[in-house]
Amino acid sequence: MANHVRKAVFPVAGLGTRSLPATKAVPKEMLTVVDKPVIQYAVEEAKAAGIEEFIFVTSRGKSALEDHFDRNFELYDVLTQRSKTAELEAVREAELPVGQFSFVRQPEPLGLGHAVWCARHIVGNEPFAVLLPDEVFKADPGVLAQMVAAYGQVGGNLIAVREVAPELTAKYGILDVEHDDGRLAAVKGLVEKPKPEEAPSNLSIVGRYILQPEVFEFLDRQERGAGNEIQLTDAMARLIGRQPFHGIRFEGDRYDCGDKIGFVAANVAFALSRPELADKLRESLEAVI
Ligand code: UTP
Repeated sequence: MANHVRKAVFPVAGLGTRSLPATKAVPKEMLTVVDKPVIQYAVEEAKAAGIEEFIFVTSRGKSALEDHFDRNFELYDVLTQRSKTAELEAVREAELPVGQFSFVRQPEPLGLGHAVWCARHIVGNEPFAVLLPDEVFKADPGVLAQMVAAYGQVGGNLIAVREVAPELTAKYGILDVEHDDGRLAAVKGLVEKPKPEEAPSNLSIVGRYILQPEVFEFLDRQERGAGNEIQLTDAMARLIGRQPFHGIRFEGDRYDCGDKIGFVAANVAFALSRPELADKLRESLEAVI
């Protein structure tokens, strides 16, 4: 069994109801932040963290995702004939290495835990990463790379966390912390969406995980949790006490692109970090505001 993290699961089978009507016919993971679809940011983050196998959990209506990572010969030919080298390079960058990516279907959106469980045979018996692509991070090194480095020290299960305002705990999965060195927090429990007065901390789970394959034993039970969905948090919570389990504070900024404000903010932040766009965008924003 490999003990380094070679595989990553990208659950992309959700309905994206918060982003309607944009997501009626277009998968929310294909909405663009500046000029790249949201999913590509997560894939690039995984590549930079040394991931070798990319597993997408998709559903009906998501075929644009498969096409995005595939080769488009006609487009290559046209761009080559027209000497559009930069565009050709941008298109090539989106490709994944042949034989190193796969798609598995989640037939019904029964929850994030169920989506991850759908990938169990492709993951097999080794540690793996999960990236929720609608959370886009602006971080250098990338958040998953930060986690892989920490995994080399503590092993077990790792989840990325950030501090949220105490009054907002009811929106997130929250850690119950055993001890905390300011970066890594040893976890003794996970609580899904606690009221502020019941929250054991203000460390909230964000969409990056490194998990041990034993999590599938608990997902196999298909137990429903909050919102009558099969929750990843519930299965992860059962690993606590059996295996090392840590939350890691990451360096960088997070944008929830499944939410309208987060999506627009991500576009502004990523565009402002592009030298060829920054000045003109600043002018346009000043004019608008
Ligand atoms: P969200 O909570 O953002 O749900 O899922 P959603 O359905 O995509 O979006 P809204 O809330 O209706 O707008 C978090 C991640 O888990 C995936 C989603 O695709 C997203 O990446 N997911 C969720 C699945 O793959 N399957 C599910 O059954 C649920």
